[in-house]
Amino acid sequence: MSADIIDGKAFAAEVRTRVAEHVRRLTDEHGIVPGLAVVLVGEDPASQVYVRSKNKQTVEAGMNSYEHKLPADTSETDLLALIRQLNEDPAVHGILVQLPLPDHMNSDIVINAISPAKDVDGFHISNVGLLGTGQKSMVPCTPLGCLMLLRDRLGSLSGLNAVVLGRSNIVGKPMAQLLLGDSCTVTIAHSRTKDVEAVCRGADILVAAVGRPQMVTKDWVKPGATVIDVGINRIDAGEGKTRLVGDCDFDSCAEVAGAITPVPGGVGPMTIACLLANTVTACCRANG
Ligand code: GUN
Repeated sequence: MSADIIDGKAFAAEVRTRVAEHVRRLTDEHGIVPGLAVVLVGEDPASQVYVRSKNKQTVEAGMNSYEHKLPADTSETDLLALIRQLNEDPAVHGILVQLPLPDHMNSDIVINAISPAKDVDGFHISNVGLLGTGQKSMVPCTPLGCLMLLRDRLGSLSGLNAVVLGRSNIVGKPMAQLLLGDSCTVTIAHSRTKDVEAVCRGADILVAAVGRPQMVTKDWVKPGATVIDVGINRIDAGEGKTRLVGDCDFDSCAEVAGAITPVPGGVGPMTIACLLANTVTACCRANG
C-alpha cells in the first residue's frame, strides 16, 4: 500500500469540538441553545442506527435534540402537519426527515414542506437552487464533509479534474456543484457512462458514491489521485458475520492512490459532524 489514509474520524472529532465551542458561546453569551429535530418514519434498522447516533452527538455538542419517531403507516398528511409544527417552533433551528421514507409517501413533497431556513440537509428545492447558482445555502452534509476532507488534504482544488461516480440528489449532484464551486473540472459518471474506468482514471479527485460494494479497483484510479469513498455497504464476511466496505476496493485502490478515505472511519463520521455544523449555522442565521 502506498496511499495515505485520510482520517475522517479524527477530522470529524475536530469539527465537533469547534461546533461545541460555538454552541457554548451562543448559550453562555446569548442564552440561545440550538435545537435539531429529527423525524424518523418506520423502523428501517440502518436509519434507526443513524438517528440514534445523530441524537447522541447533538446532545454531546450541547444542543437540544428533538426526536420524533412515527409508525411506518403514518399518513403523509400527519407527517406534513408535524413538519408545519416544527417549522413554527422557535426552539427548533434544524429539521431533518430521515430518508428513505415509506413507499406511500412522496419524499419531494415532504422535503419541500420543511422551511428552507431549517433544512439542515440542504435537500429543499430552494437550497438546491441556491447551491447550483453559487449563492448562500444549506449544503448537504455528506458532500460538505467530503469537500472539507479534500480541502484539508489538497489545499486549493482549482483546476483539478474531479470525477463524481454516482448521480444521486443526496450526494452525487451536490458534490459536483461544490467541486465546481471550488473551480474543479467536474465530470459526473454513472451506470450509463461509456468506459467508466477510463473516465475515472482521468481524475485527480475521485468521489465514489454509487452504493456498490468494492466496485472501484486500482485500474480505475490515476496514480497519486485522492480517492473519497462515500459508500457504506454491508457484505457477507463468512462464518455468519458481516463487515462494512465502501464503493472502493480499499486495498487495491490504496496501491495506486495518493490518499484514500477508509470505510468505516472516512466520510461517515463527517456527515453527522456537518449536520451539527449546519444546525449551528441555521441557528445563527435565525438569530441575526
Ligand atoms: N438517509 C441517508 N443519508 C441521509 C441524509 O444525509 N439525510 C437524510 N435526511 N436521510 C438520509
